[in-house]
Amino acid sequence: MGPDPQYDAFADEFLEHARDGLFNAHYDRPACLDLLGDVAGRTVLDAACGPGLYAEELVARGARVTGFDHSPRMVELCRQRVPSGEFRVHDLADPLGWLPDDSVDLVVFALALEYVDDRVSALRELRRVLRPGGALVLSRPHPTGDWLRHGGSYFDVRVIEEVWSKGWRLRYWLAPLERTCEELRAAGFLLERLLEPRPRPEAADLHREDYQRLCREPTGFLALRAVPDPRR
Ligand SMILES: C[S@@+](CC[C@H](N)C(=O)[O-])C[C@H]1O[C@@H](n2cnc3c(N)ncnc32)[C@H](O)[C@@H]1O
Repeated sequence: MGPDPQYDAFADEFLEHARDGLFNAHYDRPACLDLLGDVAGRTVLDAACGPGLYAEELVARGARVTGFDHSPRMVELCRQRVPSGEFRVHDLADPLGWLPDDSVDLVVFALALEYVDDRVSALRELRRVLRPGGALVLSRPHPTGDWLRHGGSYFDVRVIEEVWSKGWRLRYWLAPLERTCEELRAAGFLLERLLEPRPRPEAADLHREDYQRLCREPTGFLALRAVPDPRR
């Protein structure tokens, strides 16, 4: 998506939106946190950590958290939110040179794969730093929802641009589910679980229309857990 961090201009607004909003607080984060399981005493890498909403919850659950994001403002917000963590500005296009092989127990990579051009190389780096027995938990927009919004061929891998309701202009990759599975395989992962999450019931009265839509349509996100393939 190029060298400019797309989220930098609206990082503070993203924090406001994602802290308590339906899509992040009651839908994506609960699904990924469930897939991560017990994190107490574990070292977790928060890849594309955003403003630290995952990191905050992981630390509250007893994890040691290190993370990075392409956007300097996101990293600033993350450091403010989670002083005990270690966060740096880093582009997933580059190798994670500061992290040794087999140095983290878990990686969470929420809602950012779609911004990466060379996804196999980025995933391979996450695989490299994961300890054997560790796991990667990843979420991405549901490809069916992407296709319903953008039409054309479901199977085409292409970049689209959207303007979200808050006026945020974002470019990201559309890719069918098969492609994401293939990219994980090429990077040395085995898919362990795949969830098509439903929003948490406590959000039903907060955001009635979107809540009901996400309960019946695959137009939100999906979440998966993958483990390093021991044969590779
Ligand atoms: C939708 S936000 C998700 C943030 C966080 N993972 C969460 O779920 O709260 C996407 C994040 O990916 C980051 N990002 C996008 N492209 C990136 C890249 N190439 N390298 C690192 N981070 C990137 C953005 O700066 C932004 O913080």
